[in-house]
Amino acid sequence: MRITMIGSGYVGLVSGACFADFGHDVCCVDKDASKIERLLAGVMPIYEPGLDDLVERNVKAGRLRFTTSLADGVADAVFIAVGTPSRRGDGHADLSYVFGAAREIGEAITGYTVVVTKSTVPVGTGDEVERIIREANPQAEFGVVSNPEFLREGAAIDDFKRPDRIVIGSEDTRATEVMRQVYRPLYLNQAPILVTGRRTAELIKYAGNAFLATKITFINEIADLCERVGANVQEVARGIGLDNRIGSKFLHAGPGYGGSCFPKDTLALLKTSQDYEAPQRIVEAVVAVNDQRKRAMGRKVIAAMGGSIRGKTVAVLGLAFKQNTDDMRDSPAIAVVQALTDAGAVVRAFDPEATEQARPLLPDIEYATGPYEAIEGADAVVVVTPWDAFRALDLKRIKSLLAAPVVVDLRNIFDPEQVRSAGLEYTGVGR
Ligand code: UDX
Repeated sequence: MRITMIGSGYVGLVSGACFADFGHDVCCVDKDASKIERLLAGVMPIYEPGLDDLVERNVKAGRLRFTTSLADGVADAVFIAVGTPSRRGDGHADLSYVFGAAREIGEAITGYTVVVTKSTVPVGTGDEVERIIREANPQAEFGVVSNPEFLREGAAIDDFKRPDRIVIGSEDTRATEVMRQVYRPLYLNQAPILVTGRRTAELIKYAGNAFLATKITFINEIADLCERVGANVQEVARGIGLDNRIGSKFLHAGPGYGGSCFPKDTLALLKTSQDYEAPQRIVEAVVAVNDQRKRAMGRKVIAAMGGSIRGKTVAVLGLAFKQNTDDMRDSPAIAVVQALTDAGAVVRAFDPEATEQARPLLPDIEYATGPYEAIEGADAVVVVTPWDAFRALDLKRIKSLLAAPVVVDLRNIFDPEQVRSAGLEYTGVGR
């Protein structure tokens, strides 16, 4: 099958490269000429484990191309995988890139084409995409399908190749058949394909992300309660997670969720709920609790350091919103670091991948070249992102480098007993 992917960002690039790896003929289109140039030279615009090899392999095999012009790449299925950022001011998803892509597709298509929205878009966007294409090209033969993605950053290739499910929102049998061909290699891998109405598919994406954000926020509040009553949140999470109805994933207490999806998508869902007068009070509470939590984590650090941190130095380990990514979007680290600098501390941070992305957002802190460099002479060390490389740090060495023996582990990556037996004071989350 010939597939065109409009937008070579996270979702478009990973999906395009994976489709090519399954043997499809894929053309990735992006307006950003310098991004396309870099991709042609094998330089990835994002950090995603395994992506560079995947792209190189498929470019060499002639199955994956990059171009700036849609005219070069109209195919059997054209995916729209452009950004849908939160619109300034009202939190609605900004659909201008999606609609722009729809117009260009309308102008470019010749034979029957399936247009697939992969970007996360509010309910009803498919109808508008269809209207725009029809307006741009009244004679065009096409079907519009919703096909949300469920890729996690840092694990995106595996999530694409071994999905829990594939959702296809289509009310047009011809388009559904094309989508089945597109995903044929995956359902041969036994991934269930769920064909639903288009609006249903659009809502599945938002409901899924809002539910996961709720799960995280739930366990975070239980963690606060654990601290008060002397319980252990990790054991509580295991104890409830073994119930199949609950499930053990997404029950890690921490500094609150961040990233490019959960904060944006929960807000967009609330906007839709207001527009349609169907309040989502649980999601409203989740958004508010998560926002407050990030700064509360700053106060937790300050308390662990004795209440006053003016003039003290805090080593921060990890800045990205989670491990295995360089993404700083809505990272809890931003609020935590700001709370510390607002209270007068000097912050010296280390992240294995996100330093360049962090600099413009956190211009007033120091950046170290390794974890021990960050820790040397500091009055406390705070773990904000659970990179694997932090898990086996030498605790005795940390003790000898720190000016005060304070460890605040916002991701529960250390064993409290081991930390304490190295002569350090330990504060975790919910235990
Ligand atoms: C998420 C969804 O998982 C994915 O399906 C969707 O397509 C895009 O959004 P992503 O943002 O890449 O993916 O990251 P994810 O691994 O889901 O983590 C989101 C945030 O929640 C991170 O800040 C992470 O640290 C936090 N988190 C996750 C927790 O605090 N506890 C958990 O148990 C799980």
